[in-house]
Amino acid sequence: MNDPNGPIYWRGKYHLFYQYNPDGAYWSNMHWGHAISADMVHWKHLPVALAPTPGGPDADGCYTGSAVVENGRVVMLYTGVRSVPETQATIKDNGNILRETQCLAIASDAELRNWTKWPVPVLGASPEGMEVAGFRDPSPWRQGDWWYMVIGSGIVNRGGMVLLYRSKDLRSWQFLHVMASRENSPVVSHQPTNLREVWECPEIFRLGGKHLFIYSADGKAQWQSGVLDDKTMIFHPEKAGTLDYGCYYASKSQRASDGRRILWGWIPETRKEKECRAAGWAGMMSLPRVLSLDDDGQLRIDVAVEVERLCEKQQTLRFVGNEERDRSLIESVRITGCRGEVRCALCGSGESFELVLSDAAGGVEPWLSLKVDPLYPGQIFLDDKPLPLLLSPGEDLDVVLYVDGSVIEVFVNRQVAYTKRFYYLKNNQRTLGLQWKGKTSALRKLYYRQMSHVFANWLTL
Ligand code: FRU
Repeated sequence: MNDPNGPIYWRGKYHLFYQYNPDGAYWSNMHWGHAISADMVHWKHLPVALAPTPGGPDADGCYTGSAVVENGRVVMLYTGVRSVPETQATIKDNGNILRETQCLAIASDAELRNWTKWPVPVLGASPEGMEVAGFRDPSPWRQGDWWYMVIGSGIVNRGGMVLLYRSKDLRSWQFLHVMASRENSPVVSHQPTNLREVWECPEIFRLGGKHLFIYSADGKAQWQSGVLDDKTMIFHPEKAGTLDYGCYYASKSQRASDGRRILWGWIPETRKEKECRAAGWAGMMSLPRVLSLDDDGQLRIDVAVEVERLCEKQQTLRFVGNEERDRSLIESVRITGCRGEVRCALCGSGESFELVLSDAAGGVEPWLSLKVDPLYPGQIFLDDKPLPLLLSPGEDLDVVLYVDGSVIEVFVNRQVAYTKRFYYLKNNQRTLGLQWKGKTSALRKLYYRQMSHVFANWLTL
């Protein structure tokens, strides 16, 4: 799998669709896979929801899209691609010469298994006179009497941008303006590193008293908070950041049954395609993350409480202030089958230290390192990468991490998210252990829990 698509809570169930290649564990021939859940953590696979229609505008792939409810029915807007002569193409990358158009499909059953496609694209071309580097990933929302929609795009040599449209009926769309772009953004660097950059998977929604705009580009999912003026529909960004500094992309959000804003993200592989093909699977979905904004527009990220349903009995470590004892306590932590949660409170302003997660049996590269050095205030080092972390005076470091098979999702003070992939040398389950480097005086509290499986038919390697 790659991107999460069209997540929606509908008739008491969470539906999560995703980019899926039925031919194998590599990117090609995009379909929409479909999974269903009552609680966002226990999932059941349903049959493929969308497949390319031969001769149709999505003949060569059903790319990313979003769900909305119109007249009591779930409607998907997604990008269809088909091979065309180069002069008509909107994608000209890596040998792919494709035209992207925005397509619509309507569900005809309560479980969202059956979809009827609108026979023609609802948006067949990018704005006149703009030579775009891409035109995809529609994300519509209802506001007043109108539907609005953002689409990911970019201008060759100038960088990514997001196009804003509006419609009365989801089927006929009028281009309004460029809602956000690298070129005109006060909060991101103006230099694109990729000359054909596209701001993929854009989305904008109300959060707290402001708006949150998210997009993915250059391997990272990003956020900007600010205000979308509801008269001019111009977005005024105020703060920006990275949704996850690790292996995480193409995030997409939805509302939970109680209104919380849930963020899903694709966790890609960092191993070679050959190994993925041999394993028979590639890519996974992140844990559900709840987004909120502080009054000053800083984004906060929490793992959804539903994840607790997978957690078993809590083990608590009580540190006593004795160097030798506390070190052996932390080194006694074991998470078998690499499935569990670790939570710790650490003092971030005293001595420097390093927390290492690795195979408890030793002998292999550490799986993750987290370092704090008071010589670098305002920073935390994850796998030696310095990441910005703002702590108020006297505030402890609050580290939460989840490990599952070959992935670790780490959250620091609800501000920094970092997703890491790691692979074992042998094809079997491992036990995770912790090591502490430096004085143990920074250790305040630690607890950990084993976790159980999400699927009955779970896969690991
Ligand atoms: C992001 C993305 C989207 C596109 C989809 C195709 O990972 O490139 O922009 O719709 O993947 O699979």
